[in-house]
Amino acid sequence: MSLLFEPLKINQTTINNRICLPSMVIGGYSDETGMVSEKNIEHYQSFAKGGTGLIIQEATCPSTYGKVAEDQLGVWSDDHIPGLKKIADAVHAEGATILVQLCHAGVTAIEEETFCPSEYSCTKNDRFRKGTALTLEHIKKIQDDFVNAAVRIWKAGYDGIELHGAHRYLICQFLNPRVNKRTDEYGKQPTLFVIEIINRIREIVPDTFIIGIRLGAFEPTLADGIANAKALEKNGIDFLNISYGCTGEFDSYVPEDYPFKDVIYAAAEIKKNVSVPVFAVNGIKTPEMAEDILQITGVDMVNIGRSMLVNPNWANDAKASQDTGKCLVCRQCMWHKTPPKCPGRKILNRKLVRANKTPILN
Ligand SMILES: Cc1cc2nc3c(=O)[nH]c(=O)nc-3n(C[C@H](O)[C@H](O)[C@H](O)COP(=O)(O)O)c2cc1C
Ligand code: SF4
Repeated sequence: MSLLFEPLKINQTTINNRICLPSMVIGGYSDETGMVSEKNIEHYQSFAKGGTGLIIQEATCPSTYGKVAEDQLGVWSDDHIPGLKKIADAVHAEGATILVQLCHAGVTAIEEETFCPSEYSCTKNDRFRKGTALTLEHIKKIQDDFVNAAVRIWKAGYDGIELHGAHRYLICQFLNPRVNKRTDEYGKQPTLFVIEIINRIREIVPDTFIIGIRLGAFEPTLADGIANAKALEKNGIDFLNISYGCTGEFDSYVPEDYPFKDVIYAAAEIKKNVSVPVFAVNGIKTPEMAEDILQITGVDMVNIGRSMLVNPNWANDAKASQDTGKCLVCRQCMWHKTPPKCPGRKILNRKLVRANKTPILN
């Protein structure tokens, strides 16, 4: 292993290794207040203890609406700061770096009335949603929410934020011209909405505060993904975490015989066009695969998502050449609703008990 455990500098912060826990909303730990619970603190502390270099806290809502789940964590009020500070402190005590992912769901939000850059309909989780076009006044209000949320995260002691610009949420809806059909500047320049947010945050927080983005690779094509990445780099983004963009509105591409997923290919192509750190994700399970991706594609960081839910000690086990466990890629990941029922975790725990080792409890 030569790259996986190399440090990586993002902005002014040195991350201990190239292993990132990507943002993952966990069901049932918070409630409709969006307040941090003891379970949330233990959850993030376990990945830091497990040797993860960079932790990106789950999609956290900057507004009182635009939620992805009823019990999603929130940062729309100063009352959220003390709870969030406990997560940041617990993770820092273990030597890891932690960011919060800020996510406004736009048209795919859970509320009855939803919004989109321009009028747009889609189905999510078997529910039909029709989004009303945002007015200019409403755009400014949501941008204010993002800026105020980022300032609260800074006050809570986090190292920075990741703006959620992928997976069919609001920033992503602005970035994809098949969804964003506005005729004003926010339609002509799809990155404008998020660039204005970045600039306004930068005016308030110290230069060292990390501002990255989870960005759709195909928006709708890879050429658009590359153009968005370059525009964001020009406007001071600290890293690009490449994932899928607007579901149903993109044209995926990967050369035949490419050894990894299309979205990892796209991350590698984007890396060729920018100099800021680029992260890859999707289906990376074993330390060998993670190392291969770093070596072959030139990306700077790998996200270990579901495999880290199976085993929060994934990074330390990888370093010690121990069994890291296995995600079974269930049709729907059980961590969305019922955390204790992860079959990958169950199998790993059985093996640990057989080897007279302590099973993973949280
Ligand atoms: C339970 C669960 C919750 C997720 N929540 C988020 C989220 O809040 N924000 C986000 O950008 N992606 C989210 N994702 C996507 C993951 O970050 C990741 O991109 C995906 O699981 C693929 O990586 P993996 O194969 O390593 O799991 C979630 C995935 C799962 C399984
Ligand atoms: S084994 Fe299943 S429940 Fe556990 S992390 Fe993997 S997909 Fe999710």
